[in-house]
Amino acid sequence: MTAVDVSVQLPSGTEIPAGVLREEPSPTGGAPFVSFRYHAEYLAAPGSYALSPELHLDTGLQRPPVHRPMFLGFEDAGPDRWGRDLLQEEERLLARHDGRPYGRLSALDSLLRVSDSTRQGAVRFWSDGAPLGRSALPDRVDTVDWPRLLAAAADAEAGRNVAAALEILFQFGSASPGGARPKVQVTDDSGSLWLAKVPAHGDRWDVSLWEEVTLTLAARAGIRVPPHRLERVGEGRSILLLRRFDREDGRRIGYRSARTLLQLDDHEIDRRSYTDLAGALRRTASTEDVHELFRRVAFTLLVGNLDDHMRNHGLLRTKTGWRLSPMFDVNPHWGSGFDSTPIVPSGPTRRREIHELLDVADAFDLSTDTAMTILREVEYATRDWAATAIGAGAEQENLEPFAALFDGPARDWVRNR
Ligand SMILES: Nc1ncnc2c1ncn2[C@@H]1O[C@H](COP(=O)(O)OP(=O)(O)OP(=O)(O)O)[C@@H](O)[C@H]1O
Ligand SMILES: [Mg+2]
Repeated sequence: MTAVDVSVQLPSGTEIPAGVLREEPSPTGGAPFVSFRYHAEYLAAPGSYALSPELHLDTGLQRPPVHRPMFLGFEDAGPDRWGRDLLQEEERLLARHDGRPYGRLSALDSLLRVSDSTRQGAVRFWSDGAPLGRSALPDRVDTVDWPRLLAAAADAEAGRNVAAALEILFQFGSASPGGARPKVQVTDDSGSLWLAKVPAHGDRWDVSLWEEVTLTLAARAGIRVPPHRLERVGEGRSILLLRRFDREDGRRIGYRSARTLLQLDDHEIDRRSYTDLAGALRRTASTEDVHELFRRVAFTLLVGNLDDHMRNHGLLRTKTGWRLSPMFDVNPHWGSGFDSTPIVPSGPTRRREIHELLDVADAFDLSTDTAMTILREVEYATRDWAATAIGAGAEQENLEPFAALFDGPARDWVRNR
């Protein structure tokens, strides 16, 4: 039975042992699962908090619900599809090298193999007093050899030269944080960590450039976004650099996804609605956050973002509790057969209409008048999307297909109302 010590850096900056995670065999012969027990000292420490909503603040032994191998709050510190695939590939190579059978990594294995230095949030995992997970040492952004890094990401995606590609990617903390697209981490000259989202195989447009455009527009619309910039690396290819919001002056800030907040399994991450999330934010965060969520949903609809599942919303732990994190991963997107987060329970997940949002203003603690003012502000702030895209480096002749997303029915509806 693997025992792993868990520590947490509290918002005060103090890092303290929080409890012990153990992997236990499934009684039915299925995948192993973990158990967790808090230390009494953690529970007594000023500013300590539940590491996942389902982990109650007591010293008893706790297990996740039977169908889950792991507590969701810990999954937020682990990899998502991109990182899990890299770690699984690494496991395949290691098993071959050691001549042992190759199998799927357990939930705990992939959690522990993520780089300690780039791990999302404020939890860390230890064994015999040493942190688990390799220690990535990402290069400074001005010295990064981007062509080498991009080639490594492309090789990993294509299954070519995998061992060499993984070595490079892991040096850049690539298995974390989550998400399905290729990413690495770099530092700036003050040592701050930045997330670098790089092009993926099969991209049909410059995804990073358009994410830069939405970030610029979002800031104009009064939405909090992390410091960001674009690095052009070739014709129609860019890297988006985002300063990590879960780090501040070297301190680790607790992170919780909306998926964890709402206790959703993976297949449910686009099944719960924005009014559900608003309710959970009201209970856990603040009215200001509920209002900002309304603004973000309006923004999502006005820029044609479809990929707004509950792992694409998150919270940060502050001295006064959980607060909505800066916005991330908002992209104009064409999707057929793509389900987005419905605005209301059982509402449409395709072709969502902006009036549905105004209709439920009260669920966001807003009067209809104030809600309409927000819709107008966001519409106004996103009107100049084409000029913003040109400013970010887009070519005039590539703008046309985006008009259908930015100048769609949502904009017409707000303007004509
Ligand atoms: N600026 C940031 N600072 C810290 N963490 C971040 C930041 N931006 C994103 N993240 C975290 O990294 C994860 C992956 O980022 P993001 O969602 O942008 O990637 P993605 O691969 O495009 O995701 P998806 O699979 O949803 O398309 C997010 O779920 C979030 O937890
Ligand atoms: Mg994402």
